[in-house]
Amino acid sequence: MNIGILGTGAIGSILARKFANAGNSVKVTNTREMPELKKIAEDLGAEAASTQDVVKDVDVIIFSMPFSAYKNLPKDLLKDVPKDVVIIDTSNYYPMRDGDIPELNDKTESDYISSVLGRPLTKLFNNIMEYTFKNKGKASGGKDRIAIAVAGDNPEHKKAASQLADITGFDTVDTGNLSDSWRQQPGTPAYCTELNAAELKKALDIAVRNKAPETRDKIMDKLQEYDLQQDHDKIVALNRSMSYESVGQEYKA
Ligand SMILES: NC(=O)c1ccc[n+]([C@@H]2O[C@H](COP(=O)([O-])OP(=O)(O)OC[C@H]3O[C@@H](n4cnc5c(N)ncnc54)[C@H](OP(=O)(O)O)[C@@H]3O)[C@@H](O)[C@H]2O)c1
Repeated sequence: MNIGILGTGAIGSILARKFANAGNSVKVTNTREMPELKKIAEDLGAEAASTQDVVKDVDVIIFSMPFSAYKNLPKDLLKDVPKDVVIIDTSNYYPMRDGDIPELNDKTESDYISSVLGRPLTKLFNNIMEYTFKNKGKASGGKDRIAIAVAGDNPEHKKAASQLADITGFDTVDTGNLSDSWRQQPGTPAYCTELNAAELKKALDIAVRNKAPETRDKIMDKLQEYDLQQDHDKIVALNRSMSYESVGQEYKA
């Protein structure tokens, strides 16, 4: 498969490496000048491409950039991309990092990104932490394999997205349409809680839309006390306890 990835940060670089290692042809871009991008791409097993070229002649395009950076992309970036190309968004919105975006009062995060890009999207790879994504993948059928949520309006694109998640070592659970993707946004029980497929399905069901933003911000405050790498298990436990409690439930393994 030919895959173009915008963003080579924490998540984009793991995606590029996993897909390249699995035998796919991967192109990446970021904000660097070409000589530096080429070094980064080579290390990932990918090809360096400009923003315009990374979306050309590919089967899948993955946007993995800071939420506030999408509006700076060229407005016609996806104009000539065929409709059967699967476009995936990994992004999450954190107001303290991304600023106030009033449209998010009545749109899901990926519906907003979809309107910025002018294209329907599939939301995937957003509700998993970098550490989990890098270290906790398992082969299909592995015991208690972790599942991630997939949302979007096109069933074929969601199927393709689930196959991509499988390559990276994770099951998927269908959240529903893109307008339902608030169920997998930060602050919900599905967000970065390392659940298997059965648990994730329940977590998506018990989410309460208006509780999530406050819970997201409370968890972020608490996280200041933790080291993202060394305290990983404590962070998962914190995400589970605070997000489930916020919807009147208790996480039980
Ligand atoms: N970190 C996590 O655990 C995690 C988990 C799931 C989802 N997410 C979400 O996924 C997205 C990416 O997260 P991340 O942690 O990987 O971010 P990150 O480490 O900050 O990396 C962001 C990447 O986006 C690139 N970028 C910024 N503007 C760009 C543009 N206009 N064109 C092309 N590339 C551009 C940056 O380029 P440079 O390298 O040149 O700066 C960088 O490579 C975010 O929305 C985040 O909320 C993060």
